[in-house]
Formats: sequence, C-alpha cells, structure tokens
Amino acid sequence: MEQLLVPMICKIDKVIQETPDVRTYRLKFKEEGLMEKFNWMPGQFVEFSLLGSGECTFCIASSVTRKGYFDCSIKRAGVVTADIHTLLDEGDEVGIRGPYGNWFPLDDIKGKNLLFVGGGIGLAPLRSLIQYCIDNRNDYKDFTILYGARTSADMCYKEEIKEWQENKSLKVILTIDRPEESWTSNVGVVPKILEEVVKPEIANTKVITCGPPIMIKYTIQSLLKLGFADKDIITTLEMKMQCGLGKCGRCNIGSTYVCKDGPVFTNEQLKKLPDEF
Ligand SMILES: Cc1cc2nc3c(=O)[nH]c(=O)nc-3n(C[C@H](O)[C@H](O)[C@H](O)COP(=O)(O)OP(=O)(O)OC[C@H]3O[C@@H](n4cnc5c(N)ncnc54)[C@H](O)[C@@H]3O)c2cc1C
Ligand code: FES
Repeated sequence: MEQLLVPMICKIDKVIQETPDVRTYRLKFKEEGLMEKFNWMPGQFVEFSLLGSGECTFCIASSVTRKGYFDCSIKRAGVVTADIHTLLDEGDEVGIRGPYGNWFPLDDIKGKNLLFVGGGIGLAPLRSLIQYCIDNRNDYKDFTILYGARTSADMCYKEEIKEWQENKSLKVILTIDRPEESWTSNVGVVPKILEEVVKPEIANTKVITCGPPIMIKYTIQSLLKLGFADKDIITTLEMKMQCGLGKCGRCNIGSTYVCKDGPVFTNEQLKKLPDEF
C-alpha cells in the first residue's frame, strides 16, 4: 500500500530516547488493517507530519520483517524536529505519507559478504537493512557492522547493538571519536577504524554506508583506497525534500531526483551526477 498525497494517521506506540538528541518513534496505523497492508523496502522513507508544525522526511528505520509496526528515529535538527521531540509522546497521533524512494539493491547483495559502515543517526537507514538481512541470514556470507559516534552517549540503538554483539554470526565493531574512561572499544573516526581495524575482505563484498556527509566522503575515499569498486559501495543521500515524489523540484541534482531515483545510490551512480553534488 502506498499513500502518495494524503497523510494516514499513525499512533505512537512507543518512544525510545536513543541519545540526548535522537528519539525513536514506534508507529502503528490507527485504522484497523492498514498496518498489515503497509509494505516497504529497506532504504525507503516517509513524510512525517505534525499538525500545526510541519512535515519532515525520515527513513523507515526498521524492517518489514518485524511485523506490526515501523520505526522512525528522529534527530533534533531544527524547527519541526524540535517540535516532534517536545510535543509528541506515546499515544499521540501523527500523519504519514509514503513509503517513497528506491531501496537497497537486495538482489545485488544476496550471496555476498556485507559490510555496514554507519555514523551517528546514519545507522537508522542501515538498521532497516541490517534487520532484514539478519532475518534472512542464510542469504548472506560474512556480516560486519562498523558503527561510530562522537561519544558513547551518542550511539543509537544501544540495546539492539548488544543483541548484535551476542549474535555469533555477526561481527560488530564500535568506535567513538575521543577516549572515555569506561570505553573499552575502539577510539578514532570511522574511516581510520575501517582501514586499521576492520581491514575488510574486498572480493565478493558489498559495503553499505550512511552517516554525516563528511564521514561518507572519507569512508568512500578509504574504501576506494582499500580497493573496493565504485559499484560495490552503496550509500543513501539526505537532500532536502518537500513532496517526496518527484513533483516539486526541491531535491534534484541535475535531472536526478533524489526522492524518486534515490535516495539509495552506488558510488558508480554518484560519480555520474553533476558537480553541484
Ligand atoms: C531521504 C531522507 C531520509 C532522512 N532520514 C532521516 C532520519 O531517519 N532521521 C533524521 O533524524 N533525519 C532524517 N533526515 C533529515 C531530516 O529530514 C531533517 O533533519 C529534517 O527534515 C529537519 O527538519 P527541521 O524542520 O527540524 O529542520 P529545519 O529547521 O528545516 O533545519 C534545521 C537544520 O537542518 C538542516 N536540514 C533540514 N533538512 C535537512 C535534510 N533533509 N537533510 C539534512 N539536513 C537538513 C537545515 O539545513 C538546518 O541546518 C532524512 C532526510 C532525507 C531526505
Ligand atoms: S522532494 Fe519534491 S521533487 Fe523530490
């Protein structure tokens, strides 16, 4: 089911305070039977509206394989997201349009080693694919997650990360930017840890990365230095959007509409976009 223009009403089932400025909102459609019909693919996004405040774009941060709900993890960035954090709590209602956009190339990554590289709130779109791949674990070979944040407090999904660490079929590597007294894992920015600690196998590996633009830039440079091909590096963009469906011209880079042709692109595709990107 795809709702293009009219927001559907969702009830907030649960709110999880992930970090000081990120909250996960677990959503369920109010109308009976709608939740079962709402299907999405990992990497797609919704337009999330708060009446009297505005509408914002958020990826769906959970997998369709986890039935009965979907999650949006929202970082306080400006006017609308501040209102969402301040005004919305469990039991409240919001409007949802979508799902929109393309998705991670599930056929291409099947049978491959997977390396997820996330930074900060950038783990949100990856989490949808990570959950999907964990729920279809036999379809993939080695499964590595490298996740970094500025501080340990800024790490999203702390409880779920513990589950990933306990799962013997996953390799989870965490890092923070600067040392902290009780932190026993890696210290250093994501590209450095990628090169010095992860040292990934290149053959038959697909890398899926998302994070702050500066992290993505240097992560892609490191991946290319390590020998990855552009086609094997997949990322998801966060251009400013309005309509979400290719009509308003807010998100385009040349003739490419990030909302419709993306937000998921390989580095091979990104290299073909005009210089303005
Ligand atoms: C496909 C897609 C998926 C996204 N997924 C998520 C998500 O899962 N979680 C999440 O927290 N955010 C996500 N974002 C970013 C989110 O849409 C913006 O942070 C939000 O719209 C800001 O709204 P605001 O009114 O609070 O901020 P504003 O008051 O409009 O702006 C505040 C600051 O945020 C910047 N900003 C505004 N919109 C964006 C944007 N789209 N991308 C980057 N910076 C922006 C502005 O330049 C300004 O500096 C996503 C964006 C896109 C396009
Ligand atoms: S957001 Fe309107 S065209 Fe992409």
